[in-house]
Amino acid sequence: MLLNFRTCALLFANVNFASAWNTFVVPHTAGQDDTSGLTAVLANYSTNSTILFKQGITYNIFTPIKFPVLNNVEIRFEGNLTYPTDIPAIQAIVGSSSFSGAWFAFTGGNNVTLRGSTDPKWGWIDGHGQEWWNTRNQVNRPHGFAFSKINGGVIRDMKLYKPVAWNFATSGSSNIHAFNNRIYALSVDPDNAFPFNT
Ligand SMILES: *[C@@H]1O[C@H](CO)[C@@H](O)[C@H](O)[C@H]1NC(C)=O
Ligand SMILES: *[C@@H]1O[C@H](CO)[C@@H](O)[C@H](O)[C@H]1NC(C)=O
Ligand SMILES: *[C@@H]1O[C@H](CO)[C@@H](O)[C@H](O)[C@H]1NC(C)=O
Ligand SMILES: *[C@@H]1O[C@H](CO)[C@@H](O)[C@H](O)[C@H]1NC(C)=O
Repeated sequence: MLLNFRTCALLFANVNFASAWNTFVVPHTAGQDDTSGLTAVLANYSTNSTILFKQGITYNIFTPIKFPVLNNVEIRFEGNLTYPTDIPAIQAIVGSSSFSGAWFAFTGGNNVTLRGSTDPKWGWIDGHGQEWWNTRNQVNRPHGFAFSKINGGVIRDMKLYKPVAWNFATSGSSNIHAFNNRIYALSVDPDNAFPFNT
């Protein structure tokens, strides 16, 4: 009797897990690249999930993130995110044959939301573009978001701070609703250090 009850409870727990909404808080380690901590478990959070960059944390996105096909996924950018400041390191990644074409690359899916923060201090994705603009460096610049092949997507409240070049592309996507996004690309030296084609 007891055994039967246990088996039942276990089955029920499994069913619950399969249909539940999952939330994954992206882990952060000071001074380290936070990309691998996310990509290592992305396959488990590619359906019916929230992926949360938490407020109060500045995430180091030192290497590009490539998302698998996503279905019913919301990615919330409530913390800050930072690109690397090492320009040659970025250029080496962008120039390599394995680079997907964008720092945040999507490969397809349905009902995917990118949602930033409405708190003015948080949710900024800092590209450190000023350093590139200062030298008019246009060699192997990282493109931002390739929100590709998404059917039914939302891009809202996103905030990009001094992006190096290119912000959002939506190739192959349909039914995309983009609103209330902010791109701050103001150079400190607009005459000599301009945010070319950003
Ligand atoms: C995702 O949720 C929907 C209901 O909103 C459900 O029909 C579907 O089976 C779920 N998918 C998975 C893989 O859990
Ligand atoms: C992710 O799923 C794999 C199997 O698909 C499992 O072995 C692993 O424990 C899961 N990881 C997490 C963090 O849930
Ligand atoms: C679409 O995704 C949102 C989360 O962004 C979720 O609340 C909603 O249930 C999803 N829609 C369907 C039809 O599953
Ligand atoms: C988040 O990043 C933006 C842009 O770099 C910056 O202005 C803001 O101060 C940062 N927020 C915190 C809490 O450090």
